[in-house]
Amino acid sequence: MTQQNTGIAPAQSRGEQAIGTIVREHQALWRTLDLLDQLLHDMNINQQRPDEKLLTTIFDYIQHFARRVHSQPTEIVLYRLLGEKSPESVPLLEKLSKGYEIGDVKVNELRQLLKACMEKWPEGREQFSHALARFSEALRKHIRKEEGVVIPRARDLFSEGDWEQIIEARDVENDPLFGERVRDEFRELRHQIVSYTPERFGGLGLKHEERMTAPHEKEELLSVKGLVTSYGQIEVLHDVDIKINSGEIVSLVGANGAGKSTLLMTISGLQPVDRGSVLFEGKDLGKVGTDQRVSQGIVQVPEGRQVFKDLSVHDNLLLGAYTRGRTPEVAEDLERMYGKFPILRQKRHNLAGELSGGQQQMLAMGRALMARPRLLLLDEPSMGLAPLIIEEIFNIVKELKKEGITIFLVEQNASQALALADRGYVLETGRVVIEGTGKELLSNEKVREAYLGM
Ligand SMILES: Nc1ncnc2c1ncn2[C@@H]1O[C@H](COP(=O)(O)OP(=O)(O)O)[C@@H](O)[C@H]1O
Ligand SMILES: [Mg+2]
Repeated sequence: MTQQNTGIAPAQSRGEQAIGTIVREHQALWRTLDLLDQLLHDMNINQQRPDEKLLTTIFDYIQHFARRVHSQPTEIVLYRLLGEKSPESVPLLEKLSKGYEIGDVKVNELRQLLKACMEKWPEGREQFSHALARFSEALRKHIRKEEGVVIPRARDLFSEGDWEQIIEARDVENDPLFGERVRDEFRELRHQIVSYTPERFGGLGLKHEERMTAPHEKEELLSVKGLVTSYGQIEVLHDVDIKINSGEIVSLVGANGAGKSTLLMTISGLQPVDRGSVLFEGKDLGKVGTDQRVSQGIVQVPEGRQVFKDLSVHDNLLLGAYTRGRTPEVAEDLERMYGKFPILRQKRHNLAGELSGGQQQMLAMGRALMARPRLLLLDEPSMGLAPLIIEEIFNIVKELKKEGITIFLVEQNASQALALADRGYVLETGRVVIEGTGKELLSNEKVREAYLGM
């Protein structure tokens, strides 16, 4: 093909296109880090209370990006191709991919510290601002390495076909850089960041509700509204309203037969809704199938564990990741599960049926975690277990909350479930009869009498 001199620049090569996209995204991220530094300065030097909404949106943006990259193989395609062509790059690439994973955890920690900082201003400032400064520096280092080492090496070594492969993944892989749908999501977050950034920092200075930490303004993750469901002719849940905010542990207590398991099953899609609705992040789940709910992050650990008794521990864990396909991250998550539950590593070749009740409960939880839940539904995890193991299970639940997983905990063991809950509900014969913070419920006369045996 001959290039006619029309005065128009020649079409970009695929490599230039791809590199251009990556560099633009890095620039956007870099500008966000500059903004974070300005906000830090404002907070530390000018003693300004931070803008929680703006910071939260920035965290959403960074985390969204890291998650997309890490949970989808495309950026990894770039890494993988480079690893194949340049073995000496492998250690660096591994370190960078780990960075996405650690970054995700760090952002969750920042969210907690921000919350503490808002609630205990100005005492909470120092811890939050130090953590934020460290995070921003680490992310800058990461970007510098990608710009300074990864991209130049890829530029030298990749053929047009390699770049084609990277670009082609697009929407199929929800690629954070090239996927159309994902780009729209990022655009929306960028749009919010720019809108809420004060004018003196180059933003639009849009005003918004001052505080988000007030309980009623928390971000709602799940909401069940006027829910009615039946088995045949028998109505089991009557007009149930429940909401779960992002990052909370919400406990649901109630006697045997009250309808607790039924409620969990309507949330995970195993039990149909007769009337009312179940919303996840504001979207009605009515037409969303069970598997899709799992891939959106709603994952249930059923009552009585229900592990696959004739399969090995290892295979049970792998099955937890079935909605995610066989990505390299599944192997890493498996390793993390073994780190979290060392007993499962020790027993990984045993059949699940050979495990004790406590070990099976850990396996059931590990399997659920392999699906990378955002909302974990736990149905009576302590049932039938010895006190020492129960203590361990509740400790794990607390740890999961720290990792940013929102938890809906169904328990007959009311005292312990309410003690660790942010909020709780009491269900009696299919109706919510009491709701409040965990503390309120623990000191409620009726709850003490009926469920705590006091
Ligand atoms: N598959 C089913 N078919 C018919 N009735 C059921 C079924 N599962 C549960 N029930 C009935 O629905 C009510 C609520 O049960 P469930 O949700 O399991 O309560 P909980 O988990 O609080 O013990 C009970 O009366 C129970 O007998
Ligand atoms: Mg039950």
